[in-house]
Amino acid sequence: MDLSTTIAGVRFPRCLMNAAGALCVTREELEALGRSRAGAIVTKSMTLEARRGNPEPRYYSFGSGSINSMGLPNLGYLAYAALIPQLRKFGKPVVASVAGFAARDFVQIAKAINDSRPDLIEINLSCPNIPGEPQIGYDAEASERLLSEVRTVVSVPIGVKLPPYFDPAHQEKMAKVLERVEVQFLSLINSVGNGLVVDADRESAVIKPKGGFGGLGGALIKPVALANVRAFWRLFEGRLPIIGTGGIVTGSDVFEHLLCGASAVQVGTTLVDEGLGAFDRLEQELVAVLEKKGYTSPAACRGVLKEL
Ligand code: SIN
Repeated sequence: MDLSTTIAGVRFPRCLMNAAGALCVTREELEALGRSRAGAIVTKSMTLEARRGNPEPRYYSFGSGSINSMGLPNLGYLAYAALIPQLRKFGKPVVASVAGFAARDFVQIAKAINDSRPDLIEINLSCPNIPGEPQIGYDAEASERLLSEVRTVVSVPIGVKLPPYFDPAHQEKMAKVLERVEVQFLSLINSVGNGLVVDADRESAVIKPKGGFGGLGGALIKPVALANVRAFWRLFEGRLPIIGTGGIVTGSDVFEHLLCGASAVQVGTTLVDEGLGAFDRLEQELVAVLEKKGYTSPAACRGVLKEL
């Protein structure tokens, strides 16, 4: 079955890709994504300077999900700007994820990365793991100022990676911002920030940074991810492509994201836990679900969730 999808005019050969952060920091990891069944290569969120990230342990996987406080370890935007043209040889879209600590960082990085011609730029407004730095996506006015500035320096399509919202009023407010600044796709959602996982035996937090607080991912966040995908799908009446992220463990999870309105999905925790073979498995499972349900493509079931 053809699992291709189109986002902001860019054709993806398959509708599954890595989430920014999962196995995508180094050249070796990015090239391995290029050789894998992933439908795109998404870079780690890049900052002005290279970063080692937060102290370890900073990632912990447990039965129903994961917690991380990586702290944006990455090679710095200049390294990714040099790498992106080389990644194009894999014949799949390259998505550059851009982060920063001030609006001017985002603008500087986006301008330089735009010149290296990724297929899409994903602006990460939602990293929960930098001590003292709030998630920009929870401040609609700051998000609008930042995105308006970025808009003026890029020519490739841009989208935003948003944090989870837990109130329709916040989703509506952000949707109006996104409409005004004319972003071309959404990635929903980043990890559910500032969770705390406790090891009762050791009477201890499981990660070191920020006293154990970090972003939750994996199966346990799927309902929050689906709710955000659905809410923004409804707010934009299906006009804005959405990449669903959160809780993709099986092909059926991919199908649920598609039903809610996603055009593609990104895989984080499952990819880190299982490795690149996860793409082969998820692809086969998705095809089996779609065939069983009588759908001929991912697009055929996009957004068709029944509301009772
Ligand atoms: C991290 O590097 O801490 C995670 C990045 C993110 O959640 O955006």
